[in-house]
Amino acid sequence: MYDIAKSMYIDIHSRKGKNMKTPFVNKAQIDEICKKFPTPFHLYDEKGIRENARKLHKAFSWNKGYKEYFAVKATPNPTILKILKEEGCGTDCSSYTELLMSDRCGFSGNEIMFSSNDTPAKEFELAARLGATINLDDITHIDFVKDILGEIPKRISCRFNPGGTFSISNTIMDNPGDAKYGLTRPQMTEAFKRLKELGAEEFGMHAFLASNTVTNDYYPTLAKILFETAVELKKETGVAVSFINLSGGIGIPYTPDKEPNDILAIGEGVRKAFEEVLVPAGMGDVAIYTELGRFMLAPYGHLVTKAIHEKHTHKEYIGVDACAVNLMRPAMYGAYHHITVMGKEDAPADHVYDITGSLCENNDKFAIDRKLPKIDNGDILVIHDTGAHGFAMGYNYNGKLKSSEILLKENGDTVMIRRAETPDDYFATLEDFWDVEV
Ligand SMILES: Cc1ncc(COP(=O)(O)O)c(C=O)c1O
Repeated sequence: MYDIAKSMYIDIHSRKGKNMKTPFVNKAQIDEICKKFPTPFHLYDEKGIRENARKLHKAFSWNKGYKEYFAVKATPNPTILKILKEEGCGTDCSSYTELLMSDRCGFSGNEIMFSSNDTPAKEFELAARLGATINLDDITHIDFVKDILGEIPKRISCRFNPGGTFSISNTIMDNPGDAKYGLTRPQMTEAFKRLKELGAEEFGMHAFLASNTVTNDYYPTLAKILFETAVELKKETGVAVSFINLSGGIGIPYTPDKEPNDILAIGEGVRKAFEEVLVPAGMGDVAIYTELGRFMLAPYGHLVTKAIHEKHTHKEYIGVDACAVNLMRPAMYGAYHHITVMGKEDAPADHVYDITGSLCENNDKFAIDRKLPKIDNGDILVIHDTGAHGFAMGYNYNGKLKSSEILLKENGDTVMIRRAETPDDYFATLEDFWDVEV
């Protein structure tokens, strides 16, 4: 989904007067960790991840069938998935390799949701073999799936896109009408009828209408739309859905001036809509699912990088040893990520820097015109909120290699959960192709 937090240029310091995000490690800890693991690396906070997952489950504990299917695309790492499995989560997969990873991590059957789009046949085949719940993105996929599998799975879901704009209290949050995902409202009716004819027995619906929402009203508003639609669909088709998937979209405050979402208030808002719409319609047994990625992991990840160059030309630049290969969001969306210069938390933010990576792309900047304390070569910078859609979006432009991932365990120890790429990894797909005759 497109990220609505286009805020890289926001001058947080002049608004608030001070740096307000606190890393989950202090200077002494980060110095020790950097002795053990060379920068750059992504660091994850097990304690934070577990506490947050428990709070989410508490928020939806009123719903008997509630389940969070963690969006693997946000942080595709087996250790992270296993931690979340222990906390009661399933996985939401969008591709063949995410399905394979979920399977290897011990997720099976109803613990896997497969919400993909433009899906190749072999991905549907694998999803069906694993017993995953397939969430269809298009009405034409009904026959596509039937032809591949020879039948329609008994349990199936359809992704709904109502079109137009999605607003909360007159504020436009996003533009579902422009999004490639999902079935239109009339197609939902047609799809349910056809799936029923083809033998489907257990139905679900899904929608993702706005990304990175920093408001407690997104899920309740979305839930009401989906609940009302489910009631209509029951009248029109005789199909009573057994689960409604609110998908992802609960955001986090990337900028320190914003208040974080209150997940307990969000859960309560969804409960109210449930009581108002589904219970009177005799649908009080519907299970609520979520497919959160960012909310589950983003604040519990830091990209840790070292300042290696300072450059004084038309602007003041600090070059670090990470680049957009390690975190693409600023280059891709102009997204703001807060930066803490470790050990200088209380120093005045009296310098203005562009913090750059080494790619031959002028947008390879983690911050532009950012007020920060004076940075010296060797300083460790923590780039905040990189735990979701951070490492995962990495690529290999300029032959740059992806970093390691490190877990800060609950007991304070650190353990590597993915090694850094090596040149051999980069060259692996060329192994048999150095001497191709031309
Ligand atoms: C189908 C689907 N589900 C869930 C997510 C997770 O979204 P978020 O990380 O915003 O919670 C995404 C993200 O793009 C998605 O495409």
